[in-house]
Amino acid sequence: MMTTLLKNLEFNRETIKTFLNSEDPETIQELYDEAYRTKTHTVYFRGIIELSNICEKNCFYCGIRHDRDIHRYLMPKEEILKAAEFAYQNDYGSIVLQSGERKDKHFIGFIEDLVRSIKEISKNSLGITLSCGEQTEETYKRWFCAGAHRYLLRIETSSRELYQKLHPENHDFDQRLDCLKTLKKINYQVGTGVMIGLPFQTIDDLAEDILFFKREEIDMIGMGPYVSHADTPLGASVSNSEAEKEKRLELSLKMIALTRIFLKDVNIASTTALQSLDPQGRELALKAGANIIMPNLTPTQYREDYLLYENKPCIDEDAAQCKGCLALRIASCGDEVGWKEWGDSPHYFKRKAREENLSCAQK
Ligand code: 5AD
Ligand code: SF4
Ligand code: FES
Repeated sequence: MMTTLLKNLEFNRETIKTFLNSEDPETIQELYDEAYRTKTHTVYFRGIIELSNICEKNCFYCGIRHDRDIHRYLMPKEEILKAAEFAYQNDYGSIVLQSGERKDKHFIGFIEDLVRSIKEISKNSLGITLSCGEQTEETYKRWFCAGAHRYLLRIETSSRELYQKLHPENHDFDQRLDCLKTLKKINYQVGTGVMIGLPFQTIDDLAEDILFFKREEIDMIGMGPYVSHADTPLGASVSNSEAEKEKRLELSLKMIALTRIFLKDVNIASTTALQSLDPQGRELALKAGANIIMPNLTPTQYREDYLLYENKPCIDEDAAQCKGCLALRIASCGDEVGWKEWGDSPHYFKRKAREENLSCAQK
């Protein structure tokens, strides 16, 4: 009976909602299995370096929001290069440079120079993803020309109303949308994503998020459960019961599976936030359709200061420990690691080919 449920599914809001609402364990398992069958079974590593927790923004849910009185850092260039060198020596195909949002000249130049240096030390072989927030077109271009080829900017939620509830008034939903469009125009592979199980979020909102990924032709998806942080405006009011956590985990896995089944050729990350809700969280995501893992390369001394949410895993484990641990976890899911490969999103190349065809047709 379940298999028929998944045959010839139409991609629409109602189908997505049916699965998000389902409480039947067999149906849910069948959904995960179908997503696992749909994905390719090579998992790519993106070593993540959380290079600075300095942030101009004040998102109500985030542990490094501007108004929190915490120790702030910007890793020195040499240390970042050392972490990138580790990725290169250990055959990770790509790295992600992530930071809070800063728009000052010094920071923009720092990232640009860093990207060039990482390309140099890895003889052009490391793929570089940036995740440094909203920037101007000029900045995005400078970083692209320096050698970054992917960019992650989560929309956080595709609902304008919910976005406004989660952010102060000066955080602009439209500006975020514009950034995603600009990134695409510059030719980045574009990643976005949402948090799942947010206060005030409805099943309709989540179904809409998947339709948004499709409509905006997003190449890479990074989404995970909302995990409360007690010392934030949003976290202070959230129930953190085991039942709540379990619900957010299950919803996240369903979102991953549905995104895989409907969007097929996008890269989907198995995010760390999943593991903070369940020790097996990241494996469960691989089994529900994810194909990207982001091992943490941030030196342990900085990890305590980059806690976006509570219970973040691997605070004391260093990069070498995480590498071995993750490789084992991936093998346990029947997947293998794509060592040394960039593992670019096939969706990106198809999108580009489509755009080329369109522009030829217009000539
Ligand atoms: N729970 C889960 N994810 C969070 N992020 C920030 N705060 C939290 C939280 N409390 C995510 C946001 C952001 C990414 C870097 O981290 O989605 O885009
Ligand atoms: Fe800054 Fe990102 Fe946290 Fe918002 S979610 S406060 S932009 S680091
Ligand atoms: Fe970091 Fe397992 S993933 S130690």
